[in-house]
Amino acid sequence: MQHPSDALLLFGATGDLAQRMLLPSLFGLDADGLLPPSLTIVGTARSTLDDEGYRAVAAQALEEHIDVERLVPAAVTRFLDRLRYVPVDAADPEQFVALADAVGDAGRTGLSIFLSTAPSLFGATIAGLSHAGLTGPEVRLALEKPLGADLASSRVINDAVAAVFPEERTFRIDHYLGKETVQNLLALRFANTLFEPLWNATGIDHVQITVAETVGLEGRTGYFDGSGSLRDMLQNHMLQLLALVAMEPPAQFDATAIRDEKVKVLRSLRRIDAVDAARNSVIGQYGEGAVAGQPVAGYATELGRQSSTETFVAIKAHVDNWRWAGVPFYMRTGKRMPSRHSEIVIQFKPVPHSIFATKGAVTQPNRLVIRLQPAENIRLTMMTKVPGLDRDGIRLREVPLDIGMANAFADTRRRIAYERLMLDLIEGDPTLFVRRDEVEAQWEWIDGIRAGWGANGMEPKPYAAGTWGPSAAIALTERDGVSWND
Ligand code: BG6
Repeated sequence: MQHPSDALLLFGATGDLAQRMLLPSLFGLDADGLLPPSLTIVGTARSTLDDEGYRAVAAQALEEHIDVERLVPAAVTRFLDRLRYVPVDAADPEQFVALADAVGDAGRTGLSIFLSTAPSLFGATIAGLSHAGLTGPEVRLALEKPLGADLASSRVINDAVAAVFPEERTFRIDHYLGKETVQNLLALRFANTLFEPLWNATGIDHVQITVAETVGLEGRTGYFDGSGSLRDMLQNHMLQLLALVAMEPPAQFDATAIRDEKVKVLRSLRRIDAVDAARNSVIGQYGEGAVAGQPVAGYATELGRQSSTETFVAIKAHVDNWRWAGVPFYMRTGKRMPSRHSEIVIQFKPVPHSIFATKGAVTQPNRLVIRLQPAENIRLTMMTKVPGLDRDGIRLREVPLDIGMANAFADTRRRIAYERLMLDLIEGDPTLFVRRDEVEAQWEWIDGIRAGWGANGMEPKPYAAGTWGPSAAIALTERDGVSWND
């Protein structure tokens, strides 16, 4: 752990992410007494605002995104007092000098910088920071996604960053790593003896990872249409989930050990070539339909033109190593699905021999469902006897063993993922940030899939908004005798 920062410099300070997530997260930390008492937060963006103007923006963001009972006036005032604002046009390095003035000694004693801007500005921003002397040994840099659009462009970003910030001071954000249940996956696997002996090809039949969203484009036309679900969600969040499920036990809970194990998994992903792309991946784009009873427009209508960007992707992947030989990892993500639900399903193998079969009773294999959202929940289905005095045998039924996190920890506030990540950045703990070799391994695998789609001329298949994607996504698992856990 490094020494906590004395200032936080927030680029993109008036943007959507800052207002929805970053300012509310910082407020949450401050209200709980978790920020260093003297930490100054300097916001910067192009808008011409002064400190008071920015405090008004922040106050509005808190009102919109924090429950009213948590907006204790003294806590709000203390938080707003920490805020300063300096307008900067990233294209002009001279303007960064004013930022150095605003952060003062923190540039030498301890500064965290968070880039929540378009990656096209990263190069100019880093040049400006260098010009203003804000890249010294006590300065850490956090970067929001998208970190490139493919391996080549991600390397350009990584090289530009690495020229100034060494890897140990570079904090790449994947906000899924800040989610409680994602970290809980590590606790579940490595703080219990129960699962690990079965956590391999002998005990597990397959794994499913679903991240379903009900939202559509949300006005992010430029970014999303140039990206698509594969690069927006699967390249980062879902591959991180897969890596945490599949990794070997790290020797300790520290940044190097955990990231070393994750990158081994990412490098073991079987490359999906042109033939596999046609067989083992499905892409879709939503048309008009209804979500939660409300009619919604199709993607092309929302966008205002035709597009071949996928808003849904399903993939059957393999991790080619000793532990996971032959175990499929089915992943799917989509916009305008029937419900917002993200989960990891570990489907165990059936019992080797059912002693109940002769009595007509069916045993279902155990299934562990780790639900990230909307409610955090871990559920293990078990076969149990149905109570009763059945004369001709026994009746069995699946019953869940539930760890409803909300109930088990009812008096603990559920935090925004960025609270964890902001705190770790300020305190200098990179464990939950993504290392360069991980990001590049992720891109390499994704580039192969996209090349496969291109070689096959694959276009997204239509699906109605409010459904689980194109029917081919169902066929992808059903041909293996597997059903998605809907
Ligand atoms: C972002 C994607 O990284 O994650 C968005 O760019 C997506 O398209 C979002 O909606 C989902 O995050 P969460 O935390 O709501 O599951």
